[in-house]
Amino acid sequence: MTRLVVATSNPGKLQEIQAYLSDPEWELVLKPPELEIEETGTTFLANARLKAASIAKAMEEWAIADDSGLEVQALNGAPGIYSARYAKTDPERINRLLHELGATANRKAQFVCAIALARPDGSIALETVGTCQGEILNAPRGSQGFGYDPIFYVPEQGMTFAQMPPELKHRLSHRGQAFQSFLPELPTVKQPNVKE
Ligand code: IMP
Repeated sequence: MTRLVVATSNPGKLQEIQAYLSDPEWELVLKPPELEIEETGTTFLANARLKAASIAKAMEEWAIADDSGLEVQALNGAPGIYSARYAKTDPERINRLLHELGATANRKAQFVCAIALARPDGSIALETVGTCQGEILNAPRGSQGFGYDPIFYVPEQGMTFAQMPPELKHRLSHRGQAFQSFLPELPTVKQPNVKE
């Protein structure tokens, strides 16, 4: 079993990552809370790489990081990489988004999730990006999940992420999509001559 440091302090994200990564090859451990990495990248992937590489190097262990957020079409992709920094709490972030969107007719939005896995020397062994399309409601609906889940409506399911049973969200979500391409590649990373 190899230790894999999960580079997040977000309990909602950690729970989801644990659900995807139940591989007995890897023992998931949380990064120490004092080890904070500033997200200076301009894309989700750049931030995921930065977090995974910095934590791996600092701890000299394998590390996995996810950078994710919500892109709203009518707001030119905002809050995007600033999704976590949009306001202090989840309800305040939702309120700000609903306020900025107002009565705009175009409610199209997508969640994006980038995942990067770094080797103990900080080099990137694997990376993927997943997306999930939906619409922003006028008011929150549902009580599951975290973050912007209560206002992110998936028309095909007739539900917001916050109304879905966790297994359904895990399968459809941006994080689910990213892990679906990530997991089949994971067994290859410890072999010699792995692709960069
Ligand atoms: P970061 O990836 O830690 O920089 O923050 C991502 C932010 O995007 C979170 O704090 C949430 O506000 C939002 N977010 C990311 N994934 C989800 C999700 O699955 N549901 C709801 N909000 C999410």
